[in-house]
Amino acid sequence: MQNKLNIGILGATGMVGQRFIQLLEEHPWFQITWLAASDRSSGKRYEDAAKWRLDTPCPERIAKMTISPADPDGAPRIIFAALDADIAREMEPRFAAAGCAVVSNSSAFRMQEDVPLVIPEVNASHLPLLENQSWRKQSGGYIVTNPNCSAIGLVLALKPLEERFGIESIFVSTMQAVSGAGYPGVASLDILGNVVPYIKNEEEKMQEETLKLLGSLKGSRVESLDAKISAHCNRVPVEDGHTESVSIKLRKKATREQILAAWSEFKPLAGQDLPTAPAQPIEFVAADDRPQPRLDRMRGNGMASTVGRLRPCTLLDWKFTVLSHNTIRGAAGAAGE
Ligand SMILES: NC(=O)c1ccc[n+]([C@@H]2O[C@H](COP(=O)([O-])OP(=O)(O)OC[C@H]3O[C@@H](n4cnc5c(N)ncnc54)[C@H](OP(=O)(O)O)[C@@H]3O)[C@@H](O)[C@H]2O)c1
Repeated sequence: MQNKLNIGILGATGMVGQRFIQLLEEHPWFQITWLAASDRSSGKRYEDAAKWRLDTPCPERIAKMTISPADPDGAPRIIFAALDADIAREMEPRFAAAGCAVVSNSSAFRMQEDVPLVIPEVNASHLPLLENQSWRKQSGGYIVTNPNCSAIGLVLALKPLEERFGIESIFVSTMQAVSGAGYPGVASLDILGNVVPYIKNEEEKMQEETLKLLGSLKGSRVESLDAKISAHCNRVPVEDGHTESVSIKLRKKATREQILAAWSEFKPLAGQDLPTAPAQPIEFVAADDRPQPRLDRMRGNGMASTVGRLRPCTLLDWKFTVLSHNTIRGAAGAAGE
């Protein structure tokens, strides 16, 4: 415990903030010493400010902690941030300028040229971008971001295919869980027994982030992957877990066996002893009716991207289904990895 790094959670009372608490409270490297949220919560005990939504109890130590003002004064040097983009845009730079390493879940800086947008298995090589940030040069602080929750599962499945065969076009249609909208999120009367075929800015984020994640670091910027992508994003009445129907056109022909081998052999973090990285980041399920959110979202402790239904596509080359847990792999788990 004495050797653990002190960390803070900004936006600790929200959906992603709660996942951070759940995943980091027993983490072998980190100790949560600081929680912050809005002025509505500041000064209150965590248990009085947060409506705990997860299916494991709120850790007792955390429940008794007092929520600090969202100000860098007195905050630890490592901050996991789970703020809405508008608030993050104003607040995260203040923490970076004060010398904090800010690991951000919001979209505010994901596409900024000097900000790495990272999935550790996919593009840890983009991290040197942060050396270009003015905060880094002045105070040592920086911002690093993790992607949109629908982009993460998709990109994990695409990365080994891009490496081995090259990708020319991607068509993806999502079925996204309600927890992706935070709490209270979508009104129950809008989503129960229904599908909402619109999530503000989501299709644009999926498209541009996917290509940046699969891009290459060229000097001081990332050159996005040269591929066509079209995303359709839908909200469905599922609690957790985003499911996506994907079709792809490859630059080099690949057989079913070659695609399955690319997925099963994809273990870029093997041997690094990272406490929360899954041993098998992409899990293939052979059954015709899988993956399903309720049955498959917790594979790899919620950190695996599950693929299934691989079959030829009559428009492009191959099609398949991908599923990932939106608040674990898609947010807090990815940031903690
Ligand atoms: N949910 C997901 O699946 C998911 C996945 C990936 C990324 N994200 C992104 O992660 C971020 C957080 O999402 P969420 O779902 O956790 O949202 P949320 O449930 O609405 O939580 C928002 C958090 O921000 C705090 N906050 C609001 N205004 C603030 C202010 N002025 N100063 C400081 N803190 C403030 C809230 O505190 P109070 O309780 O005091 O209001 C709360 O802790 C968003 O950018 C979202 O797009 C979410």
